[in-house]
Amino acid sequence: MWVEKYRPTQISEIVNQKEIMGSLKSFCKKKSELPHLLFSGAAGIGKTTTALCIVKEILGEYWRNFTLELNASDERGINMVRERIKKFSRFYGLSTDIPFKMIILDEADEMTSDAQTALRRIIEDASKYCRFILITNNVSKIIEPLQSRCAVFKFSKISNIDLVEHLHKVSKNENIKNDEYGLKMIADYVNGDLRHAINILQATSSIGNINNQNVKTVLGLTKTKEVETVLMLAIDGKILQARDKMIELIKVYGMSETDFLKFMNQAVFKIKINGLSKAIQTIAKCDYRVLVGANPEIQLTALLSELGDLNGAERGI
Ligand SMILES: Nc1ncnc2c1ncn2[C@@H]1O[C@H](COP(=O)(O)OP(=O)(O)OP(=O)(O)O)[C@@H](O)[C@H]1O
Ligand SMILES: [Mg+2]
Repeated sequence: MWVEKYRPTQISEIVNQKEIMGSLKSFCKKKSELPHLLFSGAAGIGKTTTALCIVKEILGEYWRNFTLELNASDERGINMVRERIKKFSRFYGLSTDIPFKMIILDEADEMTSDAQTALRRIIEDASKYCRFILITNNVSKIIEPLQSRCAVFKFSKISNIDLVEHLHKVSKNENIKNDEYGLKMIADYVNGDLRHAINILQATSSIGNINNQNVKTVLGLTKTKEVETVLMLAIDGKILQARDKMIELIKVYGMSETDFLKFMNQAVFKIKINGLSKAIQTIAKCDYRVLVGANPEIQLTALLSELGDLNGAERGI
């Protein structure tokens, strides 16, 4: 997989995050003074990669032996985490080149606050021999006492310019022809997530060059016009037909529900339907419900019906 093939191995290769890399580099110069670290930020922007780079920089060639990688969302819970950390901190003596062992705790926000409170004690007990790197998508889900024990680094999403530049480098290295529009389309789609961008690049390369048309095909965007048709049917009150078409787009053509909503949002502006502001609010409500786990088919059908009502209300029906 290209995401692994192109995973940076040194801090200097990390794209974006310049300020963070500056501070981390200076931490790495005075190894023994390294604090516990907390990395937070959206998916696919380099948190785990940076943690691995730091560990390699600090521990050198034997980093594997002196690093414990744990996934905090692991269902075995805090007791297992505690046991593994205890065992790990006893295991292997420290040689003179290695100031301490390192523990990477990924997805730390998945831990309950009780587990986080227990972790606070575990970190204290292990501090003499270990440094922790906690990783989270959402820093506000980490309890204050844990945050205050760490140097906190908030990673930002990758800018479109950096995304395009990186994708260009990867495709050049893979000898894949690309044009600027294809790369820009990927960058626009992924909302700052470099992992997602590289995955789309690889998927597109399997059907041909990286151009607008091929990227659209991979993203299932060739069907955006059809969402407009669904909208027209709905506002004409033809809910059954609108629903059939919507289900076809999702089940047969593989359009994700989130994309359907995104295109619907664009379509209401394009078609300039009556009751635009109500329509936008209805779409936003549906988007939220789908995001938090409501049944997408029920929600999208309700959306079509509400859009139909909306227009009916405008016409005074
Ligand atoms: N800042 C970056 N510089 C270079 N490559 C990156 C960067 N961010 C992501 N990547 C690419 O994406 C892949 C995944 O990145 P990484 O695992 O560090 O993401 P993450 O921030 O930990 O995401 P998640 O929150 O989903 O775990 C890497 O293997 C690499 O190919
Ligand atoms: Mg990660």
